[in-house]
Amino acid sequence: MPYSRIARTISESCTLKLNARVAELRRQKVPIIHLGSGEPKGKAPQQAIDESQELFFSREIRYTPASGTVELKDAIIEYTREHYQQEIERKNVIACAGAKQALMTALEALVNPEDEVAFPAPYWVSYPEMAKLCGATPVPIHAADGSFFPSLKDVEECLSPRCKVLVINNPNNPCGAVYDESFIAGVVRLCEARGIVLIMDDIYHRLVFDHREPLSIYRHAHDLKHLVVVNAVSKTYAMTGFRTGWAVADPELIEVMARIQGHQTSGPSHLLQKAAMGAIHGDQSCVEDLRCKLEKNRDVMLRELQAIEGIKPTAPGGTFYCFVDFSRYHPNSTAFSEFLLNKALVVTVPGVEFGMEGYLRLSTCGDEADLIEGLRRLRWALDPHGPTTLDLVDRQLVRDWEQPTDVY
Ligand SMILES: Cc1ncc(COP(=O)(O)O)c(C=O)c1O
Repeated sequence: MPYSRIARTISESCTLKLNARVAELRRQKVPIIHLGSGEPKGKAPQQAIDESQELFFSREIRYTPASGTVELKDAIIEYTREHYQQEIERKNVIACAGAKQALMTALEALVNPEDEVAFPAPYWVSYPEMAKLCGATPVPIHAADGSFFPSLKDVEECLSPRCKVLVINNPNNPCGAVYDESFIAGVVRLCEARGIVLIMDDIYHRLVFDHREPLSIYRHAHDLKHLVVVNAVSKTYAMTGFRTGWAVADPELIEVMARIQGHQTSGPSHLLQKAAMGAIHGDQSCVEDLRCKLEKNRDVMLRELQAIEGIKPTAPGGTFYCFVDFSRYHPNSTAFSEFLLNKALVVTVPGVEFGMEGYLRLSTCGDEADLIEGLRRLRWALDPHGPTTLDLVDRQLVRDWEQPTDVY
């Protein structure tokens, strides 16, 4: 089949592929520990269900405007007031099928094939592919000092005259880095001065630790001419399957995005918009409960990682990921991740998918017991002097290799 040039450049989402593999292994009753997950395990808020069920049972579920319902837009206006201390209007809002669609539609509205889309590394797996879907060139920005925190100079050096959009995900998936306020303020100034649009992917913005306050990007921007703020109910409210997110931007850009969305998918499902509205209006204690659980799990993960020889994890300031350099054990993160799955029945995500080879992304969104068990298996797999077998509930793992590198 003569697939399009763009289609041929796009790779499969490794995280979604892993999820499918996990589901298959679980069907086969393989007792794997999933440290590759990208979704909280809790239940959706009750009010999300309450607000959508009347419409559901009416059996009259119709199209909505391409940019979303007035009711959801009003809820998003409230959300922005409450969590960003920013006044916006309906014309600043578009509701989308998840943050993913909001990001993609914003890029489609802004980027030409000859343009560049920049983002700090490590980066979320979809940013390069989304840029490529627009025919544009992805430009990862690496910190010169090898850390997770590029300096403003690092950013500036990567912004060529062809750069149209800079995407910042704060806190960052996969490393949990929370960029400090002066860096963010500098990035906003830089974008405004260069006519670059800053897309803030704020999907984890309330999931921050160590007494941090979620950062309000609006405080640093002159106006919305060079700023798009993307959010969703997916992570904050444990509603990944509800596929509802949104973007806040300049009214002109929102109109263009609505035009694009109107032809691609129409508005998001009315039912799910109702549910998102319920989550935003409802009791917010579920978000604080989740945040506290994630902070506790982060501490457990760090403690368990520190018990592995030669591993020095950087403490994530938010999200539910830990991004760890395992290069002293194996230089190839894809092969290493495969090794851990096959030999220790632990799922991890290869760092190369996020732009940093030698690293693995480990999720902390599961149960504490799973984290501890996953890290017990990992430690066992990495210790050539440890016991030759490891007992699980219903089977025994056997060390049939010397070093992880021997396996390949
Ligand atoms: C950084 C980042 N942005 C966007 C998304 C997509 O979110 P949604 O499920 O709302 O489309 C994810 C999901 O993993 C993410 O990690």
